[in-house]
Amino acid sequence: MRHTRVNELLKSTEYGKEVAVKGWVRTKRGNKQVAFVAVNDGSIIHSIQLVVDLSKFSEELLKPITTGSCIHAKGLLVQSQGQGQTVEIQVNHLELLGGADETFPLQKKGHTLEFLREVAHLRPRTNTFGAIFRMRHHMAFAIHKYYNDRGFYYLHSPIVTGSDAEGAGEMFRVTTLDAVNPPRTEDGAVDYAQDFFGKATNLTVSGQLEGELGAMALGLVYTFGPTFRAENSNTPRHLAEFWMIEPEMAFYDLQDNMDLAEDFLKYLIQYALDNCKDDLEFLNQMYDKELIARLQSVVANPFERLTYTNAVDLLMNSGKKFEFKVEWGTDLQKEHENYLVEHFKRPVILTDYPKHIKAFYMKQNDDGKTVRAMDILFPWIGEIIGGSQREENYDKLVTRMREMHIPEKEMWWYLDTRKFGACEHAGFGLGFERLMLFVTGMTNIRDVIPFPRTAKNAEF
Ligand code: 4AD
Ligand code: MG
Repeated sequence: MRHTRVNELLKSTEYGKEVAVKGWVRTKRGNKQVAFVAVNDGSIIHSIQLVVDLSKFSEELLKPITTGSCIHAKGLLVQSQGQGQTVEIQVNHLELLGGADETFPLQKKGHTLEFLREVAHLRPRTNTFGAIFRMRHHMAFAIHKYYNDRGFYYLHSPIVTGSDAEGAGEMFRVTTLDAVNPPRTEDGAVDYAQDFFGKATNLTVSGQLEGELGAMALGLVYTFGPTFRAENSNTPRHLAEFWMIEPEMAFYDLQDNMDLAEDFLKYLIQYALDNCKDDLEFLNQMYDKELIARLQSVVANPFERLTYTNAVDLLMNSGKKFEFKVEWGTDLQKEHENYLVEHFKRPVILTDYPKHIKAFYMKQNDDGKTVRAMDILFPWIGEIIGGSQREENYDKLVTRMREMHIPEKEMWWYLDTRKFGACEHAGFGLGFERLMLFVTGMTNIRDVIPFPRTAKNAEF
């Protein structure tokens, strides 16, 4: 008899039916007559209870069935007398598939998240991380569904690249050259012409530039892949390896871009509310009593939209003493973003930032000072989306690249889109783990990706 997954068993009302289950033991308790074994197989947050009549099974068989071990059980599905569960299995066959001795690190409930990060190879077996990683799957699926349903094409942008899309210079070098003794050019520099790709290459910081090439052919595209940034910022919101979703749309201006981004975020949050109920209720109860209410409120209300300039005015007139001074032209700090989100009590879309704090590709406004950028700020998270309308004018783009010391020679292919059939277009990037922070209510980004990579940390 083939085993049934726990999520199916818990839904079943076929009482008296013979069933089989396979999974990992969460707890074992009981008395001299009967043992209750909770088995979880990851299909759902809940475990199924096995009722083992000790007169029918040897001590020898039962003893190694401990927390963390893997078992196969068969028996009758019966209605449960216990609280909080509908069915249980009256066991008539029990088999140990893989034992786990007393060194299994997840013996008790209530381990700290910090401790669980040290055992990231086993933490998916906890209720918390089971819930988070199931939700991560559902969100990834919803992202593809959202764009597929709207006629966008999934474009696979490269991981290895020669360009720095954001111009922030926080890239990881990809090389096969000898680290100790690399070949050198006559003037002593490392000779990347002899490297694997015949040039200096890096892990990508963004798929946007290739996304733009796609949009200029397929109209509506999105990328969804890993991106890498060697920024040494040890914050609860930054990873060195994170996933980003980057839609890019031909014939979209900034307004269209904002409308899409707002609709997209609301869709994803509603999708979580509709499809991750058990996991959300668990997280709501265990970590953040306002989680579900907060998700509902974001879906229900329009985002606040204002320009960077108006936001700076508001902050300067707020009467609040900020640690970092606000004045027109400076990048907003976390405390400023928080103030804005709390002031409006909803997500905020800021637009038209000073050009010198934004990337070279953003469309320049006629004022000569600002660009058609947009950042979406979320409660607690801060920036969840960054995007813009793109500069499609060849001359303006090249001028800006020169001002910002972007090597235009290496970007010939990007500039070609402005030479051949250029058009108005726009796009944005959603940090997948920032979204996951918001929908799970977790407060550290290391807890919403299975195997986090941050400075000094690439274990597992
Ligand atoms: O604002 P960013 O740098 O924008 C871009 O990369 C553009 N190319 C996007 C585009 O227009 N297609 O990054 C976009 C988002 C941020 O808003 C944030 O959510 C996330 O990516 N992000 C990070 N997430 C985790 N760890 C980091 N180190 C992140 N850096 C950015
Ligand atoms: Mg940004």
